[in-house]
Amino acid sequence: MTATTTATAPPSPADLATISTYVESRSAILCPADKHYLFEARLRPVMRKHGLADLRDLASKLRMNANPSLGEDVVDAMTTNETSWFRDIHPFESLRTTILPELMAAKHNRSLTIWSAASSTGQELYSLAMMIDLQMPELHGWDVRLHGTDLSREVIAQAKAGRYSALEVNRGLPAQYLARYMVRDGAHYVVSENLRRKASWDRLNFVAPWPPLPRFDVVLCRNVLIYFDMDVRAKILRKIRDTIVPGGYLLLGSSETSIGDVEGFQRLVIGRTTVYRKEHR
Ligand SMILES: C[S@@+](CC[C@H](N)C(=O)[O-])C[C@H]1O[C@@H](n2cnc3c(N)ncnc32)[C@H](O)[C@@H]1O
Repeated sequence: MTATTTATAPPSPADLATISTYVESRSAILCPADKHYLFEARLRPVMRKHGLADLRDLASKLRMNANPSLGEDVVDAMTTNETSWFRDIHPFESLRTTILPELMAAKHNRSLTIWSAASSTGQELYSLAMMIDLQMPELHGWDVRLHGTDLSREVIAQAKAGRYSALEVNRGLPAQYLARYMVRDGAHYVVSENLRRKASWDRLNFVAPWPPLPRFDVVLCRNVLIYFDMDVRAKILRKIRDTIVPGGYLLLGSSETSIGDVEGFQRLVIGRTTVYRKEHR
């Protein structure tokens, strides 16, 4: 018997343009032509799941716009979910040594609300929860609410479950935190129930209507604005600004030190971190 192979046709420039326009219009994630090589690898599992032969087939289904679940899967697959525990460490240090103590001194209701916007699989928010629990006993007895959101269904499901592979755990989680806050489950580790209870998770696409949100004392919006163009960045930053209480803080990724001409923030350098404090108006 001879093995049969299914011939797949290479996508045309128009097919590639259809896919990138589709992703950009729904997520604002830019997929320029020199990044089209990503499509094949990232979208292969989506094509398999939806029984599509190749990118041409996929592009033609997207043009018909008849399958919302295919569209969601395509956008989800094109997100970059790279993250780690205590990523870039300095923002966590600034929060611990300066920002949270300052906010505590100014708050009379003993409550703090923190948002990890574009949280990916949750390591950023759980790192914060662990740090507060272990290193900030002065916050014990406070009502600390942690909220994480992301565009991607898959990463939010994982964040909610708080379940990580050994490989994921090895990316930056110090041994003392692992021992204290993670429960082994076969080959995986699960964030302890105690910490998971402090966090809530939701899907939020920056460029679609936002679900209702509380006011935040601190917003972390790290390593995501780089995927958008300048206008989209500014629009998102203005919307985020409006969720922050006066005197509250915005923290960006370590390579994202500028908020352009977005008004209403004061730029401060704390230790080795640039942060933005919302002005009192
Ligand atoms: C590189 S991860 C950053 C995770 C974490 N903040 C960190 O710094 O480690 C970027 C995240 O942004 C999310 N994202 C991309 N476009 C988005 C959009 N339009 N709205 C909300 N989240 C988006 C992706 O799904 C991804 O999980």
